[in-house]
Amino acid sequence: MLDHRARMESGRKEKVERILSEFRLKEEDLKKVMYRMQKEMDRGLKLETHEEASVKMLPTYVRSTPEGSEVGDFLSLDLGGTNFRVMLVKVGEGEEGQWKVKTKHQMYSIPEDAMTGTAEMMKHKKLPLGFTFSFPVRHEDIDKGILLNWTKGFKASGAEGNNVVGLLRDAIKRRGDFEMDVVAMVNDTVATMISCYYEDHRCEVGMIVGTGCNACYMEEMQNVELVEGDEGRMCVNTEWGAFGASGELDEFLLEYDRVVDETSLNPGQQLYEKIIGGKYMGEIVRLVLLKLVDENLLFNGEASEKLKTRGTFETRFMSQIESDSDDRKQIYNILTAFELLPSGTDCDIVRMVCESVSTRAAQMCSAGLAGVINRMRESRSQETLKITVGVDGSVYKLHPSFKDRFHATVRQLTPGCDITFIQSEEGSGRGAALISAVACKMACMMGQ
Ligand code: BGC
Repeated sequence: MLDHRARMESGRKEKVERILSEFRLKEEDLKKVMYRMQKEMDRGLKLETHEEASVKMLPTYVRSTPEGSEVGDFLSLDLGGTNFRVMLVKVGEGEEGQWKVKTKHQMYSIPEDAMTGTAEMMKHKKLPLGFTFSFPVRHEDIDKGILLNWTKGFKASGAEGNNVVGLLRDAIKRRGDFEMDVVAMVNDTVATMISCYYEDHRCEVGMIVGTGCNACYMEEMQNVELVEGDEGRMCVNTEWGAFGASGELDEFLLEYDRVVDETSLNPGQQLYEKIIGGKYMGEIVRLVLLKLVDENLLFNGEASEKLKTRGTFETRFMSQIESDSDDRKQIYNILTAFELLPSGTDCDIVRMVCESVSTRAAQMCSAGLAGVINRMRESRSQETLKITVGVDGSVYKLHPSFKDRFHATVRQLTPGCDITFIQSEEGSGRGAALISAVACKMACMMGQ
């Protein structure tokens, strides 16, 4: 009797394995994704093909040769995925002319609270402000650029197509109680790269794997056709999350991906991001679980109302489920909170589903980063490229195995490259303040 039951359970797992095998990617698949990504990157950089390219490769006006920086207090605002933050950063001269950055004050709060919190400190003082704005922006300069489109489920009207810094300045003016001078706007990938650059001058790539997913890197100016000049390098915000909009990922998209896309606020867009970002991964897992219930392979063929509800399975549950020890306690607790009564095998199957989805995400993301790094090595004609990547984001930082799988696959795809990964701490805030310090110096030099 016991034997029979054990056999049934292992047969059930095998059937599940078969369904999950669709998530597995071979090395040749990853190379295909990588080459296609590189092709889109190239098209995004070129004037002739930029408009139609899915990967926009947006110039950031952050250059490789900063002329030093101002010292003093800088305020930074950070509008990203889930939080809005305000931070006061002190930038000062360190030894050997290097900048030292001290975070004097930081807050994580809704805007109203954060604003009143800093009001006293800032009275009668016009503070330079750096703005981290984690959406695709077409820049005209470091402090000017229009929002191309919202991502990650944002949909505020009246912003797309407008100068974001202008909107922020107007909003500050409307309040009337703050004197702030918006001197720079940067993407979160750029802020992350800059903040890590202070620790490690080889840091020329920034990447976010959080609610959304994106990367920036230092490109040769001669390849940045959208901006005049050939000298030095400029940081390019790839906006690689948009990859796939011209069908580049079609052969890899599964039925779950299509549902996630169709029910999103931006169908047909950000398809690469929808495979990797924390905004979407949990929902993919939920859809797979429902499929398994449908096939009578999970929870005795019955789903709870909560599991049937869109958006209930958050990506952070994947981290908790995949970090469970063998006793399945965390998995059990999460599933009972979903009004389910899971057996041991059910718990194992749910874990298998999470692992399949997060492994695919890590691998897909690796193909993108490998594309960027191999491109950098080729354009610099170096036999070995020694490079550092600054990384931030909840998926990268909090998931128990995303990082390791990701690092391993990136290294596998980048022969001849010696890559160091560093995690940024408070990168969005510190990076924006640092780049504002450079922007202030430049403005002074130009007599503004
Ligand atoms: C945005 C990027 C951003 C990324 C990570 C994406 O949805 O388009 O600008 O860098 O999310 O926050």
